[in-house]
Amino acid sequence: MVNNASAVVDAEHPSAHGDPHSDPFTPPADSSLWRQDFLLGAATASYQIEGAVNEDGRLPSIWDTFSATPGKVLAGDTGAVACDHYHRWEQDVDLLAGLGLEAYRLSTAWPRVMDENGAPNHKGLDFYKRLLGRLKEKNITTFVTLYHWDLPQHLEDRGGWLNRETAYRFVDYADLMSRELHGFVDAWATLNEPWCSAYLGYGNGHHAPGLSNLRFAAQAMHHLLLAHGLAIPVLRANDPRSHKGIVANVGRGTPNSDSAADRRAAELFEVQHNAWILDPLFKGEYPQDLFELWPGSEPLVLEGDMHTINTPLDFLGINYYFRTNVASDGGHGFKDVPLADVERTQMGWEVYPDGLRDLLTGFKDTYANLPPIYITENGMASDDKVIDGRVEDTQRISFLKRHLAAVDQAIKAGVDVRGYFLWSLMDNFEWAFGYERRFGIVHVDYQTQKRTIKRSAELVSKFLEDRKAQAQ
Ligand code: FCB
Repeated sequence: MVNNASAVVDAEHPSAHGDPHSDPFTPPADSSLWRQDFLLGAATASYQIEGAVNEDGRLPSIWDTFSATPGKVLAGDTGAVACDHYHRWEQDVDLLAGLGLEAYRLSTAWPRVMDENGAPNHKGLDFYKRLLGRLKEKNITTFVTLYHWDLPQHLEDRGGWLNRETAYRFVDYADLMSRELHGFVDAWATLNEPWCSAYLGYGNGHHAPGLSNLRFAAQAMHHLLLAHGLAIPVLRANDPRSHKGIVANVGRGTPNSDSAADRRAAELFEVQHNAWILDPLFKGEYPQDLFELWPGSEPLVLEGDMHTINTPLDFLGINYYFRTNVASDGGHGFKDVPLADVERTQMGWEVYPDGLRDLLTGFKDTYANLPPIYITENGMASDDKVIDGRVEDTQRISFLKRHLAAVDQAIKAGVDVRGYFLWSLMDNFEWAFGYERRFGIVHVDYQTQKRTIKRSAELVSKFLEDRKAQAQ
């Protein structure tokens, strides 16, 4: 699959090879990306890069437990060392700044900054103060996600996101962070991808904590969204100058045929991936179609919850990776029908930039009160190798160019997209796939922790330099 994929890229972009003067990345002159105020940055997440899991009083998270459980993560990899960013953060900030990236999206690790009784851990907090302080010195716009999946294990031991109490503990955590870090953060996101936390974590067991029951998924989602809705006013009170939002992964579902049943299947796919999160956030209700798909899975919702969840936001973060082609399963659901002969990445995910454009324009039409959007993650994994000190990640360069073109099309169609974060700044711990899948624009040698700038990063950097020159 991977070999086929690069063959497709080579055929479409012959100039990417051989000619050292060609630039297969730079957007065309009429692209909105040339706008000086279109923010271009890179993203990471705490558990995927930090390592140092036992240092300075950090408590175990559900991902420490899950990755230590045989069979859960490819090759038995864990985040114990990861990119050793906890110790190498200065070098990593220099790397980011050296590439001229304007913004950095990172997440803070809840188990690093609070103990079991909710008391602050100052050593953990100081780490983030130093990191964010340095980013601000370098004039880098900071997007901080409070929850990118590393739930303290002691909260999971009391039911995790199945327990309504966890939402209130999250508010304590958001309160602490915004009191301690205000002034360092330009934009706060409460949660990263509640779909993954709820569905992969509690619905199908692919992620920590590894439970698999659809009723659990629906209840976990409700408590996640409640945590978000309760935390937003607290963030506003403690840090009024920053922006507040949430990050959702969204999925494009396309019908395998023109039949009514397959078209309905594609609709249901998007209900399950998108409306499940976006309807509560922007309409204050769950899509009833979800319970057609999962009969009997309605969560327990207390009075006022939906109003709390439907709180106004300053931005919506969108993470997009691929589309899924589906057909009716013959009953009330859908089944995946992978297409043959399409370009795929190392993850097996189809490269489908139009999906990003179509989702963005669709959300604009569906939600009257949609806030400004940032693409908070987009990127791809490839089996990148350092050869003679260089990494030629040809497929990624083409991927990024085409997805940025899709963003430009959405902007031209009237969607208010204000920025784009590459996933990821560097290769890192890719959850259940461990270190095998490389998403970085910077290569990491996990034996030596050496960072090598890939060709994609050089080209993004060159574009940013050219854009800056235009401002003068
Ligand atoms: C997203 C996650 C991110 C990374 C990418 C590839 O779902 O938010 O941490 O793993 O996928």
